[in-house]
Amino acid sequence: MQEAGPVKGEFVAPPDVSDADERSDALPEEEEFWRPPVRFGSIPVEKTPLGWDRRRGFRKLYPQVMLPMQVVERVSFGHPELEPNRLFWGDNLHVMRQLPSESIDLIYIDPPFFSGRQYNIIFGDQNELRSFSDIYEGGMPGYLIWLNARLYEMKRLLKKTGSIYVHLDWHAAHYVKVEMDKIFGYDNFMNEVIWSYALGGSSRGRYQRKHDNILFYAKSVGDVHFHQPRDRATSSLLAGQPKGARDVWRTSDEDEHRVILDAWPDDLVEYTLSNRDPERSQWGYPTQKPVAILERMVMASTPANGLVADFFCGGGTTPAVAQRLGRRWIACDQSRVAVAITADRLTRGAQQLMLDSVGTNIPDFTVEHWGVYEAKRLSQAPADQFREFVLCAFGAIPDSSEPGIHGHKGAIPVWVGEPDQRSQVTAKDVEAFANAIRKTVRYQQDNLRDGIMLAWAFRPDAMEAADRLRELEQTDLNFVRLDMIRIDSVQFREHVAALSTDHADYENFLTFVQPPHVEVGWKRLQERTYIFDVSETAVLNPGAKIINVQWDFQYGRRFSSTPGYSFIRGAKKEPALQAQYEFPSTGKSRIACKVQDDMGGEGLWSGEIEVS
Ligand SMILES: C[S@@+](CC[C@H](N)C(=O)[O-])C[C@H]1O[C@@H](n2cnc3c(N)ncnc32)[C@H](O)[C@@H]1O
Repeated sequence: MQEAGPVKGEFVAPPDVSDADERSDALPEEEEFWRPPVRFGSIPVEKTPLGWDRRRGFRKLYPQVMLPMQVVERVSFGHPELEPNRLFWGDNLHVMRQLPSESIDLIYIDPPFFSGRQYNIIFGDQNELRSFSDIYEGGMPGYLIWLNARLYEMKRLLKKTGSIYVHLDWHAAHYVKVEMDKIFGYDNFMNEVIWSYALGGSSRGRYQRKHDNILFYAKSVGDVHFHQPRDRATSSLLAGQPKGARDVWRTSDEDEHRVILDAWPDDLVEYTLSNRDPERSQWGYPTQKPVAILERMVMASTPANGLVADFFCGGGTTPAVAQRLGRRWIACDQSRVAVAITADRLTRGAQQLMLDSVGTNIPDFTVEHWGVYEAKRLSQAPADQFREFVLCAFGAIPDSSEPGIHGHKGAIPVWVGEPDQRSQVTAKDVEAFANAIRKTVRYQQDNLRDGIMLAWAFRPDAMEAADRLRELEQTDLNFVRLDMIRIDSVQFREHVAALSTDHADYENFLTFVQPPHVEVGWKRLQERTYIFDVSETAVLNPGAKIINVQWDFQYGRRFSSTPGYSFIRGAKKEPALQAQYEFPSTGKSRIACKVQDDMGGEGLWSGEIEVS
């Protein structure tokens, strides 16, 4: 048994982390979580969250891996001046660790429930399957540790006024509540929302299990942003909402002054998604949550321009709602298919909003990869993106405040060459970099004259220039040659092993994948009706198989699947490699097809068809 009462310093990261890498990621100092009210007396639980190490926090079990984000796509809606929303593909723990503190208003998550592995496998994606060992191997404690490490990061990301909703069910909700009390503080607990639904499994010999539990915490209960609609007249929630928002605050005359309860059976029940519900069949994603419950949370817990995040975004319900309600958003999923479905849904949602002319100022969104990259795209990236990627992969920090210097590793200036793999560094580049170094404070005050140049290749005259500088003025420029390492080579294993400390699961980070080569064939069945086939597609990642196919039969500027043509499963839940479509009219039509494989490769095909 533990003593109750204020416990300071139990759950605080040590201020003196010695090694430099660790220092750059020093844990915030605000963690004084587990302070149960004195009236609690003694309670039989640990004070620190499961998995927490006094010295290294959650980094002991989940080491820090800083890797670059690769922007593979920017879907634009005509407002490049607005900061884009972000959709990440990668393990959320590592993605979150690279996001800035106190930047998010609302986090909603719907993590895999602790309900057995089978149920939680949605796509069969290799990246998805891999994480299940983390989640389930250690039983309930293993699950809680896995989740705690993530909740801890979420708390860091929340603004002081922010809040978090964690969607669970009876399998683990009560265990997670205890952990969240430690991480967020017992007094910051706001509600346990009971969302009860009408459809779904039966329970013999007991009451039917018909609800989920949503744990709602404030980062700080005294500062939290919460708009409670007391009645329609004074409800600031209704004021200024875009018309597109479903009116979840809709009340009939008699309950004009009703306060929304923490049990949500009544007005939301009609939105429970059956398999045939258009909202669900449109995206076809098994654990998809209804838009209506997300609308309620977003409206209550974010200001008008707030930032909403969902780090287990699945089919993208949360970002779709956020976008429609004019909020900014961040979404993340480790499944490539989930990311493809989300991107598609957000694109279609934005197009609809523009048509309705409600949200004309919709920010673009980027699709960013963490840990698995597309090699070809990297060498074709704009120079600034390429530089940022290389600097981050090298453990340096991009910094363009001094002309001619692209970043710093520790305090040492770093320069990065061109993206094109055929480019070579010349004597002129070397001299320019040396000149830039001469202008730094470091050089002028402390006479420090070293620098690092990263590039695909260095010409002999570049080497000579560096030798000259070394001899004449002791300027020491180090050349680091970039290389593409094959995934299946010994070199790659060694490189990753060096990166990944001793954590076996980390072997799979920093992987490069190839997009599948998509081949589409078709046959006319009858007037305007065709059958399309992608079975000739070549998957280029060794051992990979096709896991999802999406069709757009009116392909325009952006890919946006035709309703009903994304995440289409055939028998045995395999993706359907054929699709039948009836065009609304004859004539030329542009069509496109996106294919994902289970290792994370994604390819797009587009072409024209003469519909007859
Ligand atoms: C229950 S689903 C979310 C469904 C979502 N709320 C919706 O409405 O569509 C959980 C998702 O979490 C993702 N996931 C599991 N572990 C993850 C991790 N470590 N990082 C990112 N995503 C993860 C899974 O791929 C899955 O898509």
